[in-house]
Amino acid sequence: MPSTSPVRTQITNGIAWVTVNNPPVNATSTAVRRGLEEAVAQAQGARLAVLLCEGKTFIAGGDMSEFDRLPEPPHLPDVVNAIEDSRTPFIAAMHGKVLGGGFEIAMACAWRIALPGTRFGLPEVNVGLIPGAGGSQRAPRLLGMETAIEMACFGKTFPAEDLAAAGAIDAIVSGDLRQGAEAFIADLPPRPEPVSRRTVKMPSAEALSAARARIEKRARGQQSPLHNFEALQWAALPFSEGQPRERALHLKLRGSDESRALRHAFFAERAVTRPAAIARTAPREVKKVAIAGGGLMGAGIATACLGAGLEVTVIERDENAARDARERVRQLLDSALRRGRITPAEHRDRLAALHTSADHADAAGADLAIEAVFEDLAAKRAVFARLAEALDERAILATNTSYLNPEEIFAGLPNPGRCLGMHFFSPAQIMKLVEVVRLPATGAEVLSTAFALARRLGKVPVLSGICEGFIGNRMLAAYRREAEYLLADGALPHQIDAAMRGFGYAMGPFEMQDMAGLQIAWANRKRQAATRDPGERYEEISDMLCEMGRLGQRSGRGWYRYEEGSRTPLRDPQVEALIEEYSTRRAIERREFSADDIRARLLAVLANEGARIVEEGIAAGFDEVDMVQIHGYGFPRWRGGPMHHAQALGWEEISRTMRQVADESPGSWPLAEIVSSN
Ligand code: NAI
Repeated sequence: MPSTSPVRTQITNGIAWVTVNNPPVNATSTAVRRGLEEAVAQAQGARLAVLLCEGKTFIAGGDMSEFDRLPEPPHLPDVVNAIEDSRTPFIAAMHGKVLGGGFEIAMACAWRIALPGTRFGLPEVNVGLIPGAGGSQRAPRLLGMETAIEMACFGKTFPAEDLAAAGAIDAIVSGDLRQGAEAFIADLPPRPEPVSRRTVKMPSAEALSAARARIEKRARGQQSPLHNFEALQWAALPFSEGQPRERALHLKLRGSDESRALRHAFFAERAVTRPAAIARTAPREVKKVAIAGGGLMGAGIATACLGAGLEVTVIERDENAARDARERVRQLLDSALRRGRITPAEHRDRLAALHTSADHADAAGADLAIEAVFEDLAAKRAVFARLAEALDERAILATNTSYLNPEEIFAGLPNPGRCLGMHFFSPAQIMKLVEVVRLPATGAEVLSTAFALARRLGKVPVLSGICEGFIGNRMLAAYRREAEYLLADGALPHQIDAAMRGFGYAMGPFEMQDMAGLQIAWANRKRQAATRDPGERYEEISDMLCEMGRLGQRSGRGWYRYEEGSRTPLRDPQVEALIEEYSTRRAIERREFSADDIRARLLAVLANEGARIVEEGIAAGFDEVDMVQIHGYGFPRWRGGPMHHAQALGWEEISRTMRQVADESPGSWPLAEIVSSN
């Protein structure tokens, strides 16, 4: 009978070759665990066993779709222990990624060999968990506590070469893995002591408390890095005590809010970057990209494109501006080189693939052009008219506009099906979010190509329809508006910022404005003044600051003051007095807001605006909104995004807060359907 198990065992000349084949990443699903359990039994008839995987990788983790259910036997820790205890010793022969359960299995094998560049890690922390099959107990024994902390608490992965240098890998073999295993067997070292029986050299108490402080600082309220840190320290106990503790905590964490939120983010990320709208449409190949405007955004986008191996031509207004643009990109590449993010060879190749010019005709031959010139309709229209002339009539035209209507930008151009928005975020060489803005005319292949390009740049593309500010900036405007209402009603900037940091944001709304500069939002408010609903509450505190020249960090002061050369926001009595006087002048009786009040209000506003955006069809669903917030606006990933958070909290609760918010500022907050119906 043909076997349907994803694990196959074949014994040849006393060697049991155990092969896992569970595409795409050979995850340790129930069938794989069962197959491995059988393989261990079958291997008892052999002298040695070699565990290896088919496809592009070794076992790269658990099957997360099983995490919402009760775990089914055989349990991974039992399988892992059976491999370690097997009379016939196992060799793990690895390639690709050896992550989570895969690395736990590898650590239970007697020997480990790997192809060059194979990467190892314990990324459970990224989904709110700790390892569940001895990983936190074996890693410190095999790798030492320092490396184990980097892996388990920070989610860092290490190449085989580093592990080999630390003695955790017995051989790096090049070429064919199976042949490499045969060669290793031909000169087999004596069977070492099982990893679980080795002792750990614990760092000093000071070193541990320094590590803990570093973990806490980075975690910003997320618990799993600390859970991992705690579990790693159980490795000082006998394995038979530490491992059951690890397992119990792992199982408990599977049901935690944090792990659910992180798993939601993991799945949402995969779903939104491959939307249904383009499911059946293959992207076009893109080799050469033209970028019009090499300022802050254009230079960042160019750097991202160069990093993906694309040929890039940046077009600027004149020769001087073209030179400046080249210099800007070069500085970004230099900085990547200095930080060790790219090699000298990559730096050289990327600079060689960069062309700058003051002549739009030099964009010729580009498969796609991204416009990032001044935020001015006439300027953008003029640029696209010239690009349309220079480029092939099928070449894709994308605008990076933040607030202008792309339909107006592209109006009148031939072949409108090739036009769309690709809204990057600053700094564009780093920020993951790209809002892909679809116009009514945009063709499916064009959309699919924009998504494929964004993914190739390592970004998270999210599909958006057209509205003021698209998904992200529209929500940001609502969030800031409520933050400013809170100021007028009694809160101070540092209280609001601290409340949001307390939720897990790296920065509160006012610190963030100071960092980014207040002028863009100011210009927007002025532009919107004529069309703003006169019934909507409008507070002028922000405008007053701008009029005083307090435009944020770059002007040395904004919502906060800054000492010369420092970016640390300091409370400014002048701003606080201005806010208090403002309330008095407006006859608002200032009242206290607790950090919880502030958080509840701002999160309710985000959820309400996100829901409206989905109800209007601007975003396809809540996943899109969550990904925009996490990847573009600093919403803590471990909270899952504002929509996941609202759902976890319950929409009744959001509705209660949102009604109160709306009552306090009548005429200012249209309620989403899901809010008004709860
Ligand atoms: P910027 O002022 O730094 O750069 C604009 C560049 O365009 C300048 O180098 C200018 O010389 C060049 N330029 C102007 N007219 C040109 C023309 N006719 N042909 C070629 N180049 C021309 O502005 P920034 O911040 O890079 O913004 C560019 C666009 O990106 C705007 O539409 C903005 O709304 C959008 N954006 C900006 C973000 C930000 O955080 N700054 C974020 C996302 C989008």
